[in-house]
Amino acid sequence: MAKTAKTRIPVDVAELTKAQAKVEHMRLALELEGHDKRYYQDDAPSVTDAEYDALRQRYNAIEKRFPEFVTSDSPSQKVGAAPSGRFKKVRHAMPMLSLDNAFAEQDVLDFVGRIERFLKLQDDKIDFSAEPKIDGLSMSLRYEGGELVTAATRGDGAEGEDVTANIRTLEDVPQKLKGRNVPDICEVRGEVYMTKKAFLALNERQKAAGDTIFANPRNSAAGSLRQKDPSITASRPLGFFAYAWGEMSAMPEDTQSGMIGWFQRCGFKTNPLTKLCHSTDQLIAFHRKIEEQRAELDYDIDGVVYKIDRIDWQERLGFVSRTPRWAIAHKFPAERATTVLRDIEIQVGRTGSFTPVGKLEPVGVGGVIVQNVTLHNEDYIKGIGGDGEQLRDGRDIRIGDTVVIQRAGDVIPQVVDVVIDKRPKNAKEFHFPKKCPCPLHTDVVREETATGEEGSRARCTGEFACPFQKIEHLRLFVSRRAFDIDGLGEKQIQFFFDEGWVKEPADIFTLPRRNARLKLEEIEGYGETSVRNLFASIEGRRRISLERFIYALGMRHVGETTALALARGYGSWQAFHDAGLKVAKGDEETIAEMDALDQIGDTVIRSVAAYFGESHNRGIVERLTKEVTILDAEKPKSNSAVAGKTVVFTGSLEKMTRDEAKATAERLGAKAAGSVSKKTDYVVAGPGAGSKLAEAKKHGVAVLTEDEWLKLIGE
Ligand code: IVH
Repeated sequence: MAKTAKTRIPVDVAELTKAQAKVEHMRLALELEGHDKRYYQDDAPSVTDAEYDALRQRYNAIEKRFPEFVTSDSPSQKVGAAPSGRFKKVRHAMPMLSLDNAFAEQDVLDFVGRIERFLKLQDDKIDFSAEPKIDGLSMSLRYEGGELVTAATRGDGAEGEDVTANIRTLEDVPQKLKGRNVPDICEVRGEVYMTKKAFLALNERQKAAGDTIFANPRNSAAGSLRQKDPSITASRPLGFFAYAWGEMSAMPEDTQSGMIGWFQRCGFKTNPLTKLCHSTDQLIAFHRKIEEQRAELDYDIDGVVYKIDRIDWQERLGFVSRTPRWAIAHKFPAERATTVLRDIEIQVGRTGSFTPVGKLEPVGVGGVIVQNVTLHNEDYIKGIGGDGEQLRDGRDIRIGDTVVIQRAGDVIPQVVDVVIDKRPKNAKEFHFPKKCPCPLHTDVVREETATGEEGSRARCTGEFACPFQKIEHLRLFVSRRAFDIDGLGEKQIQFFFDEGWVKEPADIFTLPRRNARLKLEEIEGYGETSVRNLFASIEGRRRISLERFIYALGMRHVGETTALALARGYGSWQAFHDAGLKVAKGDEETIAEMDALDQIGDTVIRSVAAYFGESHNRGIVERLTKEVTILDAEKPKSNSAVAGKTVVFTGSLEKMTRDEAKATAERLGAKAAGSVSKKTDYVVAGPGAGSKLAEAKKHGVAVLTEDEWLKLIGE
């Protein structure tokens, strides 16, 4: 099952061939769509803002070089992801757009230079409104006859979610605009945010109740706003700063700064740090000053925004795809802090893998108090990287050390360095445990890598006997991105597990039937209403999408994206289940078929095989599938020439890697298979093609060169 490596060092966009650029453009589109969905719909991003920005930049650079790749549905034309479907949809009268980013001062100079050239200014000075970039979620408030009629999230920029009832609970949002002669239609836009203090307090409460812990104030603001019950939103302290507008039946002012004043007169809060700047130097000085103040502010900001003050100039400048030419976000770099590592604890995950967690002397990084830091694995602590390279110049991490930690956007903080000069004499080297901390004290082994070498992750060998693993699996099973069962938080799962009432996923669905005996409502902390609500949420989850179901099984290496790829590849639970059982038995054809799916490789196949090869898991699945209905997956839609066709790539391809070729085919709705059969529509053969070419000839399958294939797919 040898495969081409999937991680490559990116080639400079200027050096990509058109074919390579096209494939990468498609791949990035998929990746960005996934990130947008996780960020905007699930409030659970999986990459840092900086990583996302880097992907976006590369994507934009490709489109800049090859404008013909831009289509109306490319991520560059959209902002955010489509709304998540929980709330009524609202079409924005004017699209809600995004901002281009500047990272270096030079980017700001370029931005100003572009504007000067565009406007062909001679002696006119440009004024800018400089504002903090609030890290919340943007909101459009529509007033008709001065009354608030709709509040909508940004969604995909064209259509958002109707959160009017929830927004009405915010003190900062006037129900009626103050002042006389307000235009008949006013759309006031701005940012909903949660203060850092409120965020920390909310997380404390969530933790105590065993509910979702939010990663940052933005996610908690988004989660608080997306409540079906407005009284929950009302109980969460959310603020709103007005800074922009959408449809206006008349413009009350002709500058951005004038509009900010008008927002205030209407009864809105605007950000007090907003400043009118008259030169590029003043913009840069503003950025520095705000960055200095950042940690002291009680709300998260991730940069500053510069906007041309004159609205007539804004109108002349207009937009380039999804961003205005007249504004830019000047971002801040990742934040760092220094603190002392007090201890190292081991966390046992769902699959038995060990994660050492550093316990820190609490420290503020960008306003968030950090107490825990992931130390990844044994080698990482020793100063050895994934490929055996030195980390931190080989410095190991000891208990008692002073460490430099970094928090970039939302992600869990990392230790980026150890301050060796501050190492105390009694600093303690960390000895990785040889036994699992669970009551079974099972042996610990280091995982093998895909190539059979010793990997860096340590695992407990207790498997299904290890209570830590069982409970972690149940936690994953009920989590938001899996079965999403309200009322079953960490605390409740632990309780039901300790009582022996829920030992495996199917037990959750039999709880309501068993309650005549269990009588949950008589247990302290439970009342009739909460039991009724819990059972209602359990009943509501008996129908589940295939990708969520696969993800909820908790197979190793099968995260959300992989689960989606498997679901799309097989379409139904029956098909995937059959394939899983065959793969477990080593059926070559099924392995090749799975291998041919986009994003699926050896590691995942081994894991699927290991899962279905284990009778304990087959039992779990059998009992669970009796309780739930698994919905078929949507097949990717496409009207391309190769939609619905089966293609096999063989020989060496010159313009793209095999994986890229398969990914493109899948994206266009074709099935990329590993072996040739009567069902194959095309074999794309490069130099060195052997038996598959012969097979194609035997079955009378059309054989294409790489160029012919590219032509067929519109290259
Ligand atoms: S202006 C057409 N001003 O940043 C541009 N946006 O990355 C309209 N944001 O979607 C946006 N503070 O959610 C603007 N002072 C500010 C902002 C701001 C935060 C957010 C907003 C926007 C995103 C763009």
